[in-house]
Amino acid sequence: MQKIIDAISAAAVKIKKAIEFSDTGYSEHINKTGDTQLKLDIASDLIIEEEFAKVSSIKSIVSEEKDEAKLLHANGRYIVAYDPLDGSSLVDVNLSIGSIFGIYENGTNGSDLVCAVYVVYGPRVEMVATDKEVTLFRLNQNGKFVKIKEIKLNEKGKLNATGATQKGWAAYHKKLIDEIFAEGYRLRYSGGMVPDLHQILLKGGGLFSYPATTDAPKGKLRLLFEVFPFAFVFEKAGGAAVDGKKRLLELKPLHIHDTSPCFFGSNTEIKKVLNEYAKH
Ligand code: AHG
Ligand code: MN
Ligand code: MN
Repeated sequence: MQKIIDAISAAAVKIKKAIEFSDTGYSEHINKTGDTQLKLDIASDLIIEEEFAKVSSIKSIVSEEKDEAKLLHANGRYIVAYDPLDGSSLVDVNLSIGSIFGIYENGTNGSDLVCAVYVVYGPRVEMVATDKEVTLFRLNQNGKFVKIKEIKLNEKGKLNATGATQKGWAAYHKKLIDEIFAEGYRLRYSGGMVPDLHQILLKGGGLFSYPATTDAPKGKLRLLFEVFPFAFVFEKAGGAAVDGKKRLLELKPLHIHDTSPCFFGSNTEIKKVLNEYAKH
């Protein structure tokens, strides 16, 4: 497992350079989710694949930017699913973005996840990895990730990150969000799930929601490489992650690019979500 985390660290340093100095324009390809890939999405995907090809414990990889899973080492133990560059359309406005990794064993159901890692490319580069606990690392001037601290969520937070277009929200979702704001929660939402969730984790808690909408009844965020890894991080940090009715990590995707409505937060906020959604 350490070799996989080392490969992610090496890829992160290269991706950071690509973000800073390479072409931020669009390519001519459309990925499985229907997004036109940026040249940076493709470059980041290749950087990660190259690093993972050196790690013999990785059996196969699943990427947001590849239509199918790809076999790397037939005798490997792990399947690594990743979003090479999450929030990549925010590069041109110079906001923070990230990479997300889920490391699975035996299959790619939520219950097969054994480790989750994400990297934030912001003013500083940080990496969060799960072991028994959730650890924050920061890239230093020598190109090494050094441990900063363990991340632990409070029972209740103060931030509310409200995803998806409001026009498409269900009335009961709007009611839930309005009630949370009425309790004094502050809006914090950039449109990049990595920095938005990172902020909630580091500021002690709150709620991030990306619900079903009229035009996307199964939500937007992808289970294997966006939703499951963050669900794992939030649970390990002492919080919770649900689809509105049940734990996200109990879901069993039928296809590698499947999506789900999702809610991540500290326990108090997630209980509120479950209470409101149980009525519908
Ligand atoms: P990606 O850049 O990998 O396609 O994903 C972006 C995601 C996520 O970071 C964010 O929370 C969400 O898309 C925002 O989507 P909308 O602005 O379409 O609601
Ligand atoms: Mn993404
Ligand atoms: Mn992406």
